[in-house]
Amino acid sequence: MTMARVFLEQITKIFDQKVLAVDNLTLEVPDRGLVSLLGPSGCGKTTTMRIIAGLESPTSGRVYFDDADVTDISPEERDVAMVFQFPVIYPGMNVYENIAFPLVARKMPKNEIQKRVEEVAAIFEITDLLPKKTYTLDAGMKQKIVLARTFVRRPKVYLLDEPLTAVDPKTRMELRTILKRLQSDLGQTMIYVTHDQSESLTLADKIAVMNEGRLLQYGSPEEVYSNPVNTFVGYFVGNPGMNFINCSLSVEGGTCILDAGDFRHLLSSSFLPWAKEMVERPLIVGIRPENVEVSFVPKEGWILTHCILSEPIGSRVVLHLKVGEKIVKAKIPRIDVEPGTPAWFILPFESLKFFDGQTLEAIKMG
Ligand SMILES: Nc1ncnc2c1ncn2[C@@H]1O[C@H](COP(=O)(O)OP(=O)(O)O)[C@@H](O)[C@H]1O
Ligand SMILES: [Mg+2]
Repeated sequence: MTMARVFLEQITKIFDQKVLAVDNLTLEVPDRGLVSLLGPSGCGKTTTMRIIAGLESPTSGRVYFDDADVTDISPEERDVAMVFQFPVIYPGMNVYENIAFPLVARKMPKNEIQKRVEEVAAIFEITDLLPKKTYTLDAGMKQKIVLARTFVRRPKVYLLDEPLTAVDPKTRMELRTILKRLQSDLGQTMIYVTHDQSESLTLADKIAVMNEGRLLQYGSPEEVYSNPVNTFVGYFVGNPGMNFINCSLSVEGGTCILDAGDFRHLLSSSFLPWAKEMVERPLIVGIRPENVEVSFVPKEGWILTHCILSEPIGSRVVLHLKVGEKIVKAKIPRIDVEPGTPAWFILPFESLKFFDGQTLEAIKMG
């Protein structure tokens, strides 16, 4: 079985001497890992993938597969397979020939090719399509064929660049599951690019969050979700992203108070030693909408708001709670709420994350 750890060492890519597409990126993708590059459009994901594939050379920095420096090695010799956002199908060939193509090009014996094609077609549930011409197929089907053509081979690394973006939602869910299973069955290194945070959270072992060419955070889905290193990551990961509220802390007697201008919120005394150091400092408190607690009857110490909008998301609903000039989003089990309905909320202590009001970086607590 082929395998590879991919190591990017201080990769920078500048196009036309002015566009900084990738900015000093260092990233280690473990052997057999499924790593997702996640970030908004234009943040340098595709450029990073093309550099790993050898389709683009970095302005500076090195690329390693295992311990070998492959920076100056051609794409063919690197032995990677890359899938792009839009399916690339060979129109003159039927589905079978499309999938078999990489093996035919490598002069594999015919019976071995047939066995492999049939196996992979079964995995992608396209066995019926094998004799068909490709021009009748929609984008989702075409991408299934491209993925089958990719996984018919065992390259060192699979590189998938937003492979499901052009695919209809139902096929997308199906393919996510197949890809996840396939990667773990094959035990091969895969790098998966997406701008869709839910795709990253469900697929990847580790997520590399990028913005403006830079790597912001690299960790497990759980780490990135629970402990964002800055407000960008907190906002970008999650649906909807984290709530952020400008605030300051004060300590009055033995009590610690979070002052958000439009409301004040008592904090537990466990914050005390830490809060004393934060007094006077401009802060941002972050809390995930799913952690905000809501009551439709008044409760002692809870903050009065009005629900101005409710957005159903599957079995849940996102309430937009207006308090003064601020909107706090709360994600709760689905219920019908009329606009204008009074609601009371609290921000449970254990779910609060604090960020520096100027640098927007997370502040370690205690
Ligand atoms: N060949 C190129 N020439 C000039 N600029 C480019 C080229 N490829 C990408 N860029 C620029 O580099 C930045 C990163 O692009 P890209 O890697 O495609 O981002 P993403 O895949 O995250 O959307 C963008 O500003 C893009 O316009
Ligand atoms: Mg891209």
